[in-house]
Amino acid sequence: MNKEEIKKDVAKYAVDFVQNKMIIGLGSGSTMGYFIEGLVERKKRGLEIKAVASSDLSWNLAESGGIEVIDINDAPRIDLMVDGADEIDPQKRMIKGGGAALLKEKILATSSDKRIIIVDETKVVTKLGHFPLAVEIVIYGAAATKGKIDSLGHKSKFRMLNEKDFFITENGNLILDVFFTSLRDYPEKDHIAILDIPGVIETGFFFGLADKVIVGKRKGIIEEI
Ligand code: 5RP
Repeated sequence: MNKEEIKKDVAKYAVDFVQNKMIIGLGSGSTMGYFIEGLVERKKRGLEIKAVASSDLSWNLAESGGIEVIDINDAPRIDLMVDGADEIDPQKRMIKGGGAALLKEKILATSSDKRIIIVDETKVVTKLGHFPLAVEIVIYGAAATKGKIDSLGHKSKFRMLNEKDFFITENGNLILDVFFTSLRDYPEKDHIAILDIPGVIETGFFFGLADKVIVGKRKGIIEEI
């Protein structure tokens, strides 16, 4: 099985955790794309659900498949959030934000009763920090904010849309991708140090936000952690 097939497999497996009448929080990314496809299939077979989305892409994908997507402010509760990750360690700490949806994803995850993370086995690491950490920052003073992050000993780069234009998030902000010089022993400390810098809105570190992790492996094996 190649990586895409594993992602499809794990997404299909996770769709079975959705129950009738649930309000589902939709994460973002390619694995989530497959999950939403599976949700649309179940909806066609009679599943009654509503969804709240962490990105325009996930919103459009669900809505075009016939799923009712509601604004987070209109959701009385979120029963279950399903999302992908870029890295996850044995304590279920994660790096997310490869798709730049970290802020909405974190708001949804912290507003959900239960959270399931779906990943292929390449995302499972012993220590976080190989994958660059997405940090959402405000445009005002962005160069100074970058300088303060770099002075912590990291190297960061603005995420670009193309050679000239900065990537702008759905919240109207910039993304700094932070490259660590070593794997992280204390990611909580890194998170606090970065978040403490004025201009930083959120980091892609997610702690305590994975109740169940579903890992897809080669040969079609699926493991629940
Ligand atoms: C988006 C995310 C995604 O969950 C993460 O990047 C994983 O994406 P993919 O399923 O495409 O590998 O955090 O902000």
